[in-house]
Amino acid sequence: MQDILKVALEAAREAGQFLKESVGRVRNVETKKGEVRNLVSEIDRGAEETIIRIIKSSFPGHAILAEESGASDTSDEYRWIIDPLDGTTNFLHGLPIFCTTIGVERRGEIVAGVTFDPNLNELFTAEKGSGAYLNGRRIRVSITAELINSLLVTGFPYNIAENPDHAADHFTNLLFEARGVRRLGSAALDLSYVAAGRFDGFWEVSLNPWDMAAGVLFVREAGGMISDFTGAPTTIYRKQILATNGLIHSAVTSVLLRPSQS
Ligand code: IPD
Ligand code: CA
Ligand code: CA
Repeated sequence: MQDILKVALEAAREAGQFLKESVGRVRNVETKKGEVRNLVSEIDRGAEETIIRIIKSSFPGHAILAEESGASDTSDEYRWIIDPLDGTTNFLHGLPIFCTTIGVERRGEIVAGVTFDPNLNELFTAEKGSGAYLNGRRIRVSITAELINSLLVTGFPYNIAENPDHAADHFTNLLFEARGVRRLGSAALDLSYVAAGRFDGFWEVSLNPWDMAAGVLFVREAGGMISDFTGAPTTIYRKQILATNGLIHSAVTSVLLRPSQS
């Protein structure tokens, strides 16, 4: 596993550095899936190519699921789940809140993860059973026990206008119950920050496995809790995620389960 983490780290660092150097140098921006807000550029693709090249040079047989190039058909016991640039909208606006994130599954279970923020030079890492780390120092979730004392973070899907899963209502309801709610624009950083105790909780709908793979492992390894909005176990392949320090979990689910107005 050490080797896997080492390669993930090298790939995330190289891609992250490339992202940082590419701010303001984007030539071609396109929309994805017919959604006007869902953007991609040659930088997302370039970062992904770098990551895959580095992984393949050490582990040519491993399977890959990457946001821009999709799934490889190799059925190895290991699968690398990659978001080369999480926070694309921020990146395109020159807002320095974005990262590269890589999770590694073994037989369907996430066993390693790396998220690199090149702007703050923050590297989050975890291996299953060995804790979560930020720049080599162990991190733990917060000890905030009351929702009213909690700082939460969320995100909105690109098709927010269609209000999937009553995303706008959940936001309003939690805004009235928590100390504050932030929206950073990078789900992978949101999860990393819950693991580091900077946020007490995070929820979002309609995410993809590559947004969550590494972050879910960080939160678990930092002592936090992951579920769907009812509090039931979930996976990175499902469309709802709630990640908290564990202590405020049921207080958040009771707000998320309130009947919606819209
Ligand atoms: C997006 C970010 C954002 C979240 C969106 C994601 P992208 O990923 O994680 O925070 O709200 O739902 O799609 O497109 O920047 O890789
Ligand atoms: Ca993403
Ligand atoms: Ca992305």
